[in-house]
Amino acid sequence: MSSQRSQERYSQPAIFFHWAIFVLVALAYFAIEIRGPKGTDSRAFWTSVHFWAGTLVLTLAIGRLAWRLWTPAPPDIDVNRLMAFLARLVHLALYLFIFAQPLLGMLMVNTGGHPVTLAWLNLNFTLVSADPAARPLLKAAHVWIGNAFYWVIGVHALAAIGHHVLLKDRTLRRMI
Ligand code: HEM
Ligand code: HEM
Repeated sequence: MSSQRSQERYSQPAIFFHWAIFVLVALAYFAIEIRGPKGTDSRAFWTSVHFWAGTLVLTLAIGRLAWRLWTPAPPDIDVNRLMAFLARLVHLALYLFIFAQPLLGMLMVNTGGHPVTLAWLNLNFTLVSADPAARPLLKAAHVWIGNAFYWVIGVHALAAIGHHVLLKDRTLRRMI
C-alpha cells in the first residue's frame, strides 16, 4: 500500500454517521437502563427516549449504508490478514445490529398490540399487527442481542483504542 493511500481517512459523511449512531446507541442503552419501575413518569419518559433514539439509529443506518455503497471505506491499514478479517467481521456485525435491533424493538411493540409512539411529536406507526405468539420471541431476541452487543461494541472500541495507544497507527484518527 502506498504511503499516500495509507493516509486516507473515512469521508466526512461516513464519520458523521459513525459518531451520530454511536451517540444514539449509547443513549438507547442509557435510557433503557435507568427507566425505573413500571407505572412511573420516569419510565414513560425514558422509554420514549429509547424509542426515539432507536428509531433515529435505524433512520441514520439507512443513510449510512447507502453512503457506504456510494463511497467505499479507505484501504485497510497494514495489519495481518487475520486481524483485518476479524475487524471486517465485527464491522459487518455492527452494521447488522444497527438495522436489526431497532427493527426488533419496533416489531416487539407492534406485536404487543401497540403502535410505536414517538412522543413529543406524537408520531405513531405500525409495521405489523398484534401477534401474541411472536411477541415473546421478538422480545427475547431484542434483549439478548442488546446484551450481547455491549460486548461486541466494547471489543470494537477497545480494538480502536489499542490501535491508537499500543500500535500507534492511524486507525482511530481516520475515523475522527
Ligand atoms: C439501537 C437501538 C436499540 C438498542 C441498543 C436497544 C436495546 C435494548 C435493551 C438492551 C433492552 C433490554 C433492557 C433489559 O435488560 O430489560 C431493550 C428493551 C426494550 N426495547 Fe430496545 N433497543 C433499541 C431500539 C429499540 C426500538 C427502536 C424500540 C421500539 C420502538 C425498542 C423497544 C424496546 C422495549 C419496549 C423494551 C422493553 C422490553 C420489556 O422490558 O418489556 N428498542 N432495548
Ligand atoms: C454503537 C457503537 C458503534 C458502532 C455501531 C460502530 C460501527 C462501526 C462500523 C460499522 C465500522 C465500519 C465502517 C465502515 O467500514 O463503513 C466502524 C469503524 C470504526 N469504528 Fe466504530 N462503531 C461504534 C463505536 C465505536 C467506538 C466507541 C469507537 C472508538 C473508541 C469506534 C471506532 C471506530 C474506528 C476507529 C473505525 C475504523 C476502523 C477501520 O478503519 O478499520 N467505534 N465502526
